[in-house]
Amino acid sequence: MNYNISLIPGDGIGPEIVAEAKRVLDKAAEMSGNTFSYKEVLMGGASIDATGLPLTDEAIATCKASDAVLMGSIGGDARTSSWYRLPPDKRPEAGLLKLRKSLNLFANLRPAYLYPELKSACPLKEEIADRGFDLMMVRELTGGLYFGERKTFEKDGVKTAIDTLSYNENEIRRVAIKAFEIAEKRRKKVTLVDKANVLDSSRLWRAVVIEVAKDYPDVTFETMLVDNSAMQLVKDPAQFDVMLTENMFGDILSDEASMISGSIGMLSSASLNETRFGLYEPSGGSAPDIAGRGIANPIATILSAAMLLRYSLDMDREADAIENAVRKVLADGYRTIDIMAEGMKQVGTKEMGDLIIERME
Ligand code: IPM
Ligand code: MG
Repeated sequence: MNYNISLIPGDGIGPEIVAEAKRVLDKAAEMSGNTFSYKEVLMGGASIDATGLPLTDEAIATCKASDAVLMGSIGGDARTSSWYRLPPDKRPEAGLLKLRKSLNLFANLRPAYLYPELKSACPLKEEIADRGFDLMMVRELTGGLYFGERKTFEKDGVKTAIDTLSYNENEIRRVAIKAFEIAEKRRKKVTLVDKANVLDSSRLWRAVVIEVAKDYPDVTFETMLVDNSAMQLVKDPAQFDVMLTENMFGDILSDEASMISGSIGMLSSASLNETRFGLYEPSGGSAPDIAGRGIANPIATILSAAMLLRYSLDMDREADAIENAVRKVLADGYRTIDIMAEGMKQVGTKEMGDLIIERME
């Protein structure tokens, strides 16, 4: 079978880490007997430089026509890059938001777990790190504050800005169903994170998700306020299995969840719609400060490629092979600079790719 994969290298370290993930995908293709055809797509700063826009209609069409999209990262240093002198809707991030919306990628899956080998990189107290954790953040990705109406205006000489947080029950229900389906394949627990003590939108989330939960009697369901959740993530992350939440809470909490796992360079993510199609990207950013030096950690992107195989192409065996290879590389003591520890062997981006490919079986 031949599959079409769109590749979005993007900005900063994006091209370096996507190059390694592509080599891993080639190895997976070889193992499976499938073939992959790749098309490179411009987005973010790279697209601004080439076309003046962070995402063109042509780029969206190419992604839509493919079976899955693998992305690196977009954006630059907002203090120095000329991209950030453009109006907000022409900046790199606007391209990513537009792509998510155009492809209806409403469910963002962000796994966060602590590899036993990386315990020393975990910033939490030893007794907490010792217990480990393995959670899946399910973040709603196409609604809420990031897509609501916004405006800045002046009234009676006072500058005012408004962003609107709106959700309808259908938007909530479809992502909740995804969360429960995922929980059924994991430790069977869903925690809905909200601010139902203050926000109407959160109260609607609660009402709808409580209804959805009734269809999954074998899944334990609880709700937790977002401020408490932020605290619980550093106090006792092992209590969580699937955390379901709206767009902005998920944006914030997923960074927190990734940090406690040692390095943002380790975590993958998938953004899915109702079909098998998905956009896969590392949780981390474009790290312009280390771009082009061959030292970025490609593991998050490589693990995102594994998610792509699993969710969009049904290639579970090859996805397992990638995940196991990553574990073996860590167990064998190889580290990129972001997760380097005493007594370990430091390697660069490309070498890390080689080491993982060598261990895929
Ligand atoms: C993320 C990022 C994006 C988001 C930005 C770049 C628009 O922070 O994927 O978490 O807020 O969704
Ligand atoms: Mg974010």
